[in-house]
Amino acid sequence: MARVLVTRRLPDGGIDPLVAAGHDVVARDDDRPLSPDELRDAVRAVDAVVCLLTDRIDAAVIRAGSPRLRVVANVAVGFDNVDVAAAHGAGVAVCNTPGVLDETTADLAFLLILAASRLASEAEADLRDGRWLGWGINQYLGRDVHGATLGLVGYGRIGSAVARRAAGFDMRVLHHTRTDTGLPGWRADLDQMLGESDVVSLHVPLSDATRHLIDARRLALLRPTAVLVNTSRGPIVDEEALAAALEDGRLFAAGLDVFEREPEVHPRLLAAPRTVLLPHIGSASIATRTRMARLACEGAVAVLAGEQPANLVRR
Ligand code: GLV
Repeated sequence: MARVLVTRRLPDGGIDPLVAAGHDVVARDDDRPLSPDELRDAVRAVDAVVCLLTDRIDAAVIRAGSPRLRVVANVAVGFDNVDVAAAHGAGVAVCNTPGVLDETTADLAFLLILAASRLASEAEADLRDGRWLGWGINQYLGRDVHGATLGLVGYGRIGSAVARRAAGFDMRVLHHTRTDTGLPGWRADLDQMLGESDVVSLHVPLSDATRHLIDARRLALLRPTAVLVNTSRGPIVDEEALAAALEDGRLFAAGLDVFEREPEVHPRLLAAPRTVLLPHIGSASIATRTRMARLACEGAVAVLAGEQPANLVRR
């Protein structure tokens, strides 16, 4: 029997794999993220940690857990919050939750594509605040999604799930990846694709190579009629530059589910026109969040049993 820390409350049934395997689960009733000090303390006497993307599992946390800690299972597909090199260096395995959240996240990306293109947030805010004084032919004029060109930055499981939805809206779909997918619509040159797209949706993991991938220079390549959607990680976009582009009308609209410094949202983005801003709910359906929790716990159980789970992070 191993001792497993679960850093925040998981959806009902989420920790079942740990319980079924007979592990001693150190669960918190609280949904507040542990502070860095609390996290370092909490990992000192455990064999495994099941954590969330709000936990920064850095080298200091890994050191605090060593040598007993054997696995860190992140309840998220993205694992930029985990120092994988430090973990692997200390012999600690890392697991994530690939495959179970693709469709749910693609649904949300599409929601943002539609809501941002059709100015849904601004229109609803006016209605709720009593500013809508009656139908008008020139009100809330958005941009058509059907028939538009969608540029997907990244074409993994989530990007391709967005492409399938786009086909139903008669969109022309382009995608950029570093290596040729061999599929129709592949663009080797990101800059060229940005200039060709009416809607750009981001589906790349956060790494040193993708931090501020969409910076002021690339925002300037977008058409003034374009819509930018981000459901990946906030730091992929330079928020300051994005706010400036929206303020100056150099970009039609933006739909964002992720932010550079969550839970803070850049005040200029909050004030910027034509934005739909959501609090990182890409994978937030009951079924998907439960599947994610279970998959992470299954990964931890497998590593503790000396097995190599399919959701092991290999780099
Ligand atoms: C959510 O953002 C995830 O990476 O799973």
